[in-house]
Amino acid sequence: MNTPLTSILTQRIQQEGPIRFDHFMDAALYHPAHGFYSSGKIRTGTQGDFLTPVSAGPVLGQLLARQADELHAALDRPSPFLLCEQGADRGLLAHDLLEAVSLHHPKLLAATKLHFVEPSPHLADQQRTHLAKFQDRVQISWHNTIASFTPAQAPVFFYSCELIDSFSVRLARFSSSRWMERSVMFSNERFIWADSPAPADLLADIRRWQIPEIEGFTAEIRPATAPWIHSLAAQIRQGMILTLDYGMPATDLYHPSRTGGTLTALRRHAQCGDPLQNPGDQDLTAHVNFTELSSEGTEAGFTNLGLIDFSRAFTNLATPLFHDDQPLPKKWTRNFQHLTHPAFFGKSHHVLFQGKHLPPSYRPRALASNLQACSSS
Ligand SMILES: C[S@@+](CC[C@H](N)C(=O)[O-])C[C@H]1O[C@@H](n2cnc3c(N)ncnc32)[C@H](O)[C@@H]1O
Repeated sequence: MNTPLTSILTQRIQQEGPIRFDHFMDAALYHPAHGFYSSGKIRTGTQGDFLTPVSAGPVLGQLLARQADELHAALDRPSPFLLCEQGADRGLLAHDLLEAVSLHHPKLLAATKLHFVEPSPHLADQQRTHLAKFQDRVQISWHNTIASFTPAQAPVFFYSCELIDSFSVRLARFSSSRWMERSVMFSNERFIWADSPAPADLLADIRRWQIPEIEGFTAEIRPATAPWIHSLAAQIRQGMILTLDYGMPATDLYHPSRTGGTLTALRRHAQCGDPLQNPGDQDLTAHVNFTELSSEGTEAGFTNLGLIDFSRAFTNLATPLFHDDQPLPKKWTRNFQHLTHPAFFGKSHHVLFQGKHLPPSYRPRALASNLQACSSS
């Protein structure tokens, strides 16, 4: 299928030669007018192209509100206390979180200022609309990039859901006993792969992650991961970063059995076989290398608090919620099952907790072992 981006990218290839895959992916997702995410069309949820933990319902927001309130209390209830979300799509998660803060956490509400990091004007408008009902209670601000989010001394609870998996990836492929880098060219009315010997910077990443030299092995490397966590470290003096996403430690991500890599194209709730077709009209995504995120974070000044799957993290956080005397609406229970069941988000998705200048004894409740969660309830 030809999309508006097909002719734009074809022209670019005619002028510049094959486009490196991460540059192709950048255009496909974020071209200002025609990118999958920047065009303003609905992408997540049942009306969109795929479901995310946010589209499963309001329970994720309620649980994050609990976690934010716990951190706020551990820091002796400072004011202001900044909640910041990046990659918020239409703002549904922030809405659910603020709703829970308004209903159940008055001390946090009194101190909260909400920030979005959102480069897309279309999405920022949708976030304004969804959050309008809170504007008289909570100050809300928008920033194009992390660099313009300047919390100064204020503590920050920074969270994102399925953000990093949408950062572009370079593709390395081991072929005929050497590493190649995948680019994209156009031939016979189709985008096709064009491979060339991997340059030194990509080879350095391949060595860093000890990616196995198996004929045909394909792996993704995400150049924006390290700059992202370093830029957060530069802005945030004190706080906690929660990165919710699908992914795994590097040893699993680059395991010899995962020969085809994790790059996936999604459209209208189905996987598409070819990531190069329909640019701008299908999602492109790859799993997160959590080892990279935590080791780069540590280098940038964060403490690595822990990586935990959704199943355990949200069971730990929900224990008091589900022990309240008031029976919960049935749809919340279903929503919770979607978040935690191994066949849905429970095992594929993880939360990485990173902290900075937190009290030494502080351990987020979500990271409590199941045993501790049981004994304290
Ligand atoms: C897979 S969607 C997830 C949306 C939402 N958080 C959810 O879980 O339903 C990825 C989102 O990240 C956004 N995104 C990607 N790069 C970004 C960046 N540098 N800054 C802010 N948002 C970004 C995309 O525009 C898109 O809205």
